[in-house]
This record gives sequence, C-alpha cells and structure tokens, in this order.
Amino acid sequence: MSDRITLRRFDDMHCHFRMGHLLNEVLPVTALYAGRAIAMPNTRPRAILTGKDVSWYRDQIYRAGNWFAKQLSFEPLMTIEIRDSTTPEMIAEAKRAGAVAGKVYPLGVTTNSDEGLRDFFRPEISDTFRAMEEAGMLLLLHGELDQERTLVTKREEVFLPTLVMLAKKFPNLKIVLEHVSTRAGIEMVKQLGKNVAATITAHHLCLTLNDVIGYGIQPHNACNPMPKDFDDRDALIKAATSGNPKFFLGSDTAPHTRDKKECAKGACGVFTAPVLPELLVEIFEQAGHLGQLEDFTSRFGAEFYGLPLNEGEVVLVKREWVVPKQIGSVVPFRAGTKLQWKLSQ
Ligand code: NCD
Ligand code: ZN
Repeated sequence: MSDRITLRRFDDMHCHFRMGHLLNEVLPVTALYAGRAIAMPNTRPRAILTGKDVSWYRDQIYRAGNWFAKQLSFEPLMTIEIRDSTTPEMIAEAKRAGAVAGKVYPLGVTTNSDEGLRDFFRPEISDTFRAMEEAGMLLLLHGELDQERTLVTKREEVFLPTLVMLAKKFPNLKIVLEHVSTRAGIEMVKQLGKNVAATITAHHLCLTLNDVIGYGIQPHNACNPMPKDFDDRDALIKAATSGNPKFFLGSDTAPHTRDKKECAKGACGVFTAPVLPELLVEIFEQAGHLGQLEDFTSRFGAEFYGLPLNEGEVVLVKREWVVPKQIGSVVPFRAGTKLQWKLSQ
C-alpha cells in the first residue's frame, strides 16, 4: 500500500460558506482541495433568493478568496433558495446571473429554513420547477419533512414520496437528494430515473445517532439530517464506494461558531471541511474501495451537473496528525482526534 495518494481536485457539491468573518475563515479550507463547490443559499442576514443576490454573493466569495486566488483555482457554483414566493421570472433572472441550481429547504427542517417551502403541490411552485427544467437548472432538495407525530429520525423517509412525485412529474429536471442519510433514501434514488442523484457527506459515513445522543450530548456531531442507524450507515458506505454514478460528494460542511453549538438549543451543522479529504481516504480505504474514491469526489458530480472535469490534483500523504480543537471560531469535526492521512499543501 502506497503512502501517497493523488486525486483530481474535488467537486464539493454541497457547501455552506456563510457570510462575513465566517466566510473568510472557512472558504480557504475548502479551496485547498476543491476546484468547485456548490455555495448553499441559506445565508443570513441576507438569503440568496434572486439573480441580484447571486451576483452579490459571488462577489463576496471572490473577495474572501482573493489572497489565495493566485495559487489555487477555485470556482463557486452559485444557487438560489426556492421559496413559495419564487417565480419563473426569478428563475430566469437567477440563471442569467449564473446560478446553476435552486435549493429547496422544506419549512422548519434545518438551519435557516424558517422561510422554507410550505407546499410542493401548489400549481405555482410547479411552474417554478418547470422553469428550472427549461432553464437547465438543477433542483437540490433538502429531503426531509417536519410533520406532526414524525420523529426527527423519520423525516427523510416521509419525504421520499415527494421525491418520487417530482422525479416523475419533471423527467427532464435534474434532481439531487442532498445528504441522503437512510437505506430507504439510497434505494429510492437507485430506483428512480437518470434525472435523480444524491449527495453523500463524509460525516454520515462516520456517524450514527449514538454519536449524537448515545454517550452524552455531542453538539459537534449534531446535524440535519440526523445520523441514523448502523444499517443506514452501511447502506451509505456501500453506495458511496460502489462506483454508482448516482452518488457523489456533497460534504455539507456547515460551520457554526462554538457558542452557537455549545448551548441549550444548539445549531445543527458539522464543520467537516478541515478533515474532509483525509476522512474520505480513511473511509474508502477501510471499505477496501480506495480505487472508487476519485470518481466519488471528482467525476460523478461533475458529470451529473454537466461540467468538465476539474484540472489539477491534490496529494495526501500517510502521516498521523491530531485535528485542532478549534479553527478560528469553529470546532471542526473530529476535533482532538487522530487521523492517519494528511492533505499535503
Ligand atoms: C446546514 C446549515 O448549518 O446551514 N445544517 C445542517 O445541519 N446540515 C443546513 C443543511 O444543510 O441542512
Ligand atoms: Zn447543507
């Protein structure tokens, strides 16, 4: 076994870059290994809802990245949030501003979804999805529903009929079930047509619900969708490492400052960017499928989005290191623990 791994630069198809000082802190971390990343629109105080927002946010991202732009090539892929108020005209405008996708957060299921979509079945929202289909924009779904008498761990399963409805009604709309977290979700994505794919995070390949609430409350492992059972995690590992092009990397790296995590009503989201390539190598190596890693990180996502493959490479070397307890104002995933591989910079 070699002690050096070279991979094409990644496409991270699900990233939270935030705004203000957090944007400055976290963007360079992802740009170390990703050639492109999908910039999620659930930002505050300004959500990304229109073409104007897209241009403004892209500008913020490029400004934050200025100091490293000379050494590294990094391109943010822009998105807008689809709410009940999003019209076909807004889709056309966002497309002109360069948005590649629209993201739906169903109401109340995750961080900053307080104005999320209430109803997937209204005729007006169908017009909006049709406009996306015609514009060639992807529909990215936070695939969970907050229903009465539905446990947080069942929210993905109760969303799946909605995914089926959308996939059948809009056969030419490319749909991504973001951060799939259950065996049921994996099976559904496999069964549905070519227009449906899913992103998988590194942390859902590592965690079960036990790691969130089973040994004391561990706020730095708390995220949406909540990590599930061992069997679900097995299904995710199998899907990620199997070479099925419907499953590709979307890290959902989601930094929150330490004080927002370590409190009575802690925010959901895990900051995985500082350990992402290293964790993925460990997981794929352990599964005996290191040979499938590059397709997962750097090919299948690009192909589904209809993008050329990234230029350039990243190198990892076998070297034990300890993940820092804090990076800037954020506690990273696996803080204080040892990892066996290290990104070489
Ligand atoms: C994300 C965030 O913090 O913005 N949180 C999370 O737990 N994953 C939002 C999301 O992707 O659900
Ligand atoms: Zn996310």
